[in-house]
Amino acid sequence: MASETLDRSAAAPDPDKLNAFMGKMVGDMGAAMSAALVVLGDHLGLYKALAEQGPTTSIDLAEATGLNERLIREWLAAQAAAEYVTYDAAAGRFSLSPEQALVFADEESPVFLAGGFELLQAAFRDEPKVAKAFRSGLGLGWHEHDVCLFRGTERFFRPGYNANLVANWIPALQGVQARLEAGAKVADIGCGHGASTILMAQAYPNSRFHGFDYHAPSIERAREAAAAAGVADRAQFETASAQAYPGEGFDLACIFDALHDMGDPVSAAAHIRGSLKPDGTWLLVEPFAHDDLADNLNPIGRMFYSASTMICTPASQSQEVGLALGAQAGEARLRKVIEAAGFTRFRRATETPFNLVFEVRP
Ligand SMILES: C[S@@+](CC[C@H](N)C(=O)[O-])C[C@H]1O[C@@H](n2cnc3c(N)ncnc32)[C@H](O)[C@@H]1O
Repeated sequence: MASETLDRSAAAPDPDKLNAFMGKMVGDMGAAMSAALVVLGDHLGLYKALAEQGPTTSIDLAEATGLNERLIREWLAAQAAAEYVTYDAAAGRFSLSPEQALVFADEESPVFLAGGFELLQAAFRDEPKVAKAFRSGLGLGWHEHDVCLFRGTERFFRPGYNANLVANWIPALQGVQARLEAGAKVADIGCGHGASTILMAQAYPNSRFHGFDYHAPSIERAREAAAAAGVADRAQFETASAQAYPGEGFDLACIFDALHDMGDPVSAAAHIRGSLKPDGTWLLVEPFAHDDLADNLNPIGRMFYSASTMICTPASQSQEVGLALGAQAGEARLRKVIEAAGFTRFRRATETPFNLVFEVRP
């Protein structure tokens, strides 16, 4: 009886805490609802038109885009309430501040985020498939997702690669930049749409790049992108798994945000080791994470654990072994995978708020 009383008092909600929690939840629901409006604004070219126009009205924006004025007016109001668009009440005009323009309108900016919202769209579209994976334990393959995941992933990661890959990550590896400049053979494994491969091919014209991914439609798209970027002569793409891609004698192997998606990362790592020259390097980029769950309970961990639940962990479970490292694997767990594959040198070369960057050597 006494413990029942205790339990009840422990469960009694504190009105102030409840109020604060409701405030947070209203903010979160608004953010989640706004995500669809970001996808809409991105697809319809509204952000880019706003950036081009400068301070404008819904009437002028409708004229510039050929879209329905009444719906644009509502979208602008929602965007202003979200603080994604700036509203000048005195002038009755909407605009993008320089910061908002970088995030929503400039595809080449290092902080462009609008494209990444396509990835969030996949989480909602594929929720029934993920629910099935929760019941079956059989996972959900990367290839089984809605197509918006593939494009959203490319657009979410590309700005970070633009900002960091050539300027910071490669220089953080011992001797790799010089080899790439002189002419090296490079594998980009789990390359998706090839954003990282193409970027390196543009930066190091003397080197040869081989992108591999088990997802054939992504490889098709990577080939098209390489041709459009004018690097098809030195960036080639092939459908192949990380555990069995062809070729040997690579100076550099790269995996960008894909090792934890694999079912058998130890076999993939062992295959990489076999395909590298004895003095070759593996550049491993994974989502930023601390080793302990409690240290990842922050906005970045929230985003990555969520993506990991909906995408990465079921993707790994769907493959042989199904190790399911998760997108917040952290350095200690990654080190175990690398060492199990026979590599002897593993160090954190650098990091960003979103990425851990490792140098791995045989
Ligand atoms: C999160 S995406 C990253 C794609 C790309 N590296 C990027 O940064 O944009 C993970 C990629 O790993 C690929 N992948 C998953 N398991 C694989 C495997 N066993 N072998 C090869 N690729 C795999 C998926 O098809 C997907 O393209």
